[in-house]
Amino acid sequence: MKESNPSTEPIGQNLIKLISNVCFSVFVFSVLVFTVIAITYQPPDPWLESAPALTELFTQSENATFQSDNSILKTGEDFPVERAMPPESKPLTEAVIEKAEGKIANSTPEFQLACDESKQVVNCSDPRVLIAVEKFNLRVFKSIVFLKYQMTANGSKPDECDVAWRFRNKKEKSWRKYRDFRRFKFGIGENCTYKVVQAGAWHSGVNARQPRSRIRNGTRRGSGNKAKIVPPPVRDEEINDTIPTLGSLMNFNKGRYLYYSRGGDYCKGMNHYVWSFLCGLGEAMFLNRTFVMDLSICLEATYNPSNKDEEGKDFRYYFDFEHLKKVTSIVEEGEFLMGWKKWRRSHKRKVPTRKVVSYKVTPMQLKKDKNTVIWRQFDAPEPENYWYRVCEGQAAKYIQRPWHALWKSKRLMNLVSEISGRMDWDFDAVHVVRGKKAQNKELWPHLDSDTSPDALFMKLKSMIQPWRNLYIATNEPFYNYFDKLRSQYKVHLLDDYKELWGNASEWYNETMLLNNGRPVEFDGYMRVAVDTEVLYRAKTRVETFYNLTTDCKDGVNTC
Ligand SMILES: *[C@@H]1O[C@H](CO)[C@@H](O)[C@H](O)[C@H]1NC(C)=O
Ligand SMILES: *[C@@H]1O[C@H](CO)[C@@H](O)[C@H](O)[C@H]1NC(C)=O
Ligand SMILES: *[C@@H]1O[C@H](CO)[C@@H](O)[C@H](O)[C@H]1NC(C)=O
Ligand SMILES: *[C@@H]1O[C@H](CO)[C@@H](O)[C@H](O)[C@H]1NC(C)=O
Ligand SMILES: *[C@@H]1O[C@H](CO)[C@@H](O)[C@H](O)[C@H]1NC(C)=O
Ligand SMILES: *[C@@H]1O[C@H](CO)[C@@H](O)[C@H](O)[C@H]1NC(C)=O
Ligand SMILES: *[C@@H]1O[C@H](CO)[C@@H](O)[C@H](O)[C@H]1NC(C)=O
Ligand SMILES: *[C@@H]1O[C@H](CO)[C@@H](O)[C@H](O)[C@H]1NC(C)=O
Ligand SMILES: *[C@@H]1O[C@H](CO)[C@@H](O)[C@H](O)[C@H]1NC(C)=O
Ligand SMILES: *[C@@H]1O[C@H](CO)[C@@H](O)[C@H](O)[C@H]1NC(C)=O
Repeated sequence: MKESNPSTEPIGQNLIKLISNVCFSVFVFSVLVFTVIAITYQPPDPWLESAPALTELFTQSENATFQSDNSILKTGEDFPVERAMPPESKPLTEAVIEKAEGKIANSTPEFQLACDESKQVVNCSDPRVLIAVEKFNLRVFKSIVFLKYQMTANGSKPDECDVAWRFRNKKEKSWRKYRDFRRFKFGIGENCTYKVVQAGAWHSGVNARQPRSRIRNGTRRGSGNKAKIVPPPVRDEEINDTIPTLGSLMNFNKGRYLYYSRGGDYCKGMNHYVWSFLCGLGEAMFLNRTFVMDLSICLEATYNPSNKDEEGKDFRYYFDFEHLKKVTSIVEEGEFLMGWKKWRRSHKRKVPTRKVVSYKVTPMQLKKDKNTVIWRQFDAPEPENYWYRVCEGQAAKYIQRPWHALWKSKRLMNLVSEISGRMDWDFDAVHVVRGKKAQNKELWPHLDSDTSPDALFMKLKSMIQPWRNLYIATNEPFYNYFDKLRSQYKVHLLDDYKELWGNASEWYNETMLLNNGRPVEFDGYMRVAVDTEVLYRAKTRVETFYNLTTDCKDGVNTC
């Protein structure tokens, strides 16, 4: 008000007031800008679609079907994220190998090679054998990070040795380790050193395959009688995805839990599931609480050979529960409910619980809540009962979906390693999207014809060299659909590797253990997971959209 009548005050004073006002405004404005930047900054979303667009997709259709590409499944390991390298994941580089080589040269004179001896017998215990293999692998398998050599054993002939090691694929952004063992044939190279003259195929070095536990036990292969030498089950000893128990149940009330009741998301598409699950987990992280997790998933009909929704699928069939346990705080629902009940019984009073009946109560409003359990219930009619609605609106600025916590199941990834390993990681791939999209001429007018066998044949000719290994990741169900390409490429389809999940497979045995001894079906969602990862390991990758057709990924006029 005073300013409205400046003539009554000295000019100097007015000027100072004006300047300070301006300064203050600038200050307020810059604070505001900074705050807005700070709270709207979000790391890139792995699905490469903005969160509002996704939310719209969900809420638009009553069905809440997720229109995004169903033939690809991206999870945390597909995205480059800076992570601290665990010490056991240090790669064996040339420098490391040469250093080891130098040490051997100085310290083991008993392994002198005789160059002129024509009938050279290779002693597989000679550390120089391993050095030769290490150098060979490093030179030949460029896409692989070699981590640790585990065992060297005799091959089937005097000039052969079997070697086992652990590795990682450079295309995978997790630190998980995989196993290979191959048979190598040796010759004598320059300066009387061993030289690999031939390398066997993926998993050919069966004599080196044995798990270390058997060796420690002293039952070395080759010794003892034949009856005992049954090949040991090739289990992946590194998987430990047991359900953690809730420590001491008496301490139940010391924890802080976030419990989501089953909502309308149940039996919806798997993309919907992931979007919702990560919202709940994100809220738990925001509230610094343990997320109560239902490991039982309902798999939507489209992924099931039976074409019906199927309940009772274990989270661990699809995702890496071990990793999830490590990087987030979770408790399995059954364990949680048991702990809750027990505590109540033994203490004769209730566990402090806050029931939240609407998603409209925001995570920020719950931040200060001190109750042991925050129990979100989702009883409203659809689509008000979806978990992910908690993360909409203002909340989206505070809650980040922890994509880094969600990796694909190691059991599925072992299949991926097996398939790409059998092709020696030397293959190209094409992703052919067909299915519903190809049938929908309104939204994708050219997709069907652009992915016809003839069109594929012509287009791939210009992108991929003849007679390369060509992996086709596709949702086209007809196996012989791609036969035309066989006159030009070595075509590989997921179904060519059926035995990997057949009833004699490691996968079959291991998933059965999770399912109370009943066999687990290799379903459509697993197929997508494996297809995606093999595709990502290809040297040259051809995508349907952008490379094969000018139609847009999400329908007419979306690109
Ligand atoms: C779900 O979508 C299908 C196909 O798009 C449609 O036929 C069906 O009526 C929809 N159901 C509901 C409940 O909207
Ligand atoms: C191979 O090397 C090991 C370790 O030095 C030695 O014990 C063994 O006798 C050697 N075997 C042959 C056939 O030279
Ligand atoms: C490997 O072969 C060498 C010579 O061929 C033999 O002396 C040695 O005992 C064999 N080692 C094992 C573990 O069978
Ligand atoms: C063989 O030895 C010579 C002389 O020591 C050296 O110059 C050469 O690089 C060596 N060759 C290999 C393949 O190590
Ligand atoms: C190896 O371990 C098994 C079971 O732990 C045992 O029964 C067997 O006697 C052991 N064999 C040797 C050679 O120690
Ligand atoms: C698996 O991990 C749990 C902790 O999550 C640990 O208690 C258990 O001993 C591990 N089991 C094996 C066989 O390593
Ligand atoms: C999160 O909770 C743990 C124990 O539940 C506590 O030690 C820690 O300080 C909390 N962190 C924050 C940021 O509140
Ligand atoms: C495995 O499958 C084959 C072919 O489907 C069948 O003949 C065989 O009996 C099955 N074996 C077991 C143990 O189920
Ligand atoms: C699977 O389990 C069966 C029965 O326990 C066993 O005979 C078979 O060797 C196992 N297969 C693999 C690949 O581990
Ligand atoms: C596929 O299209 C993308 C984008 O236009 C391009 O960068 C890539 O090189 C193409 N791939 C092949 C194999 O031609």
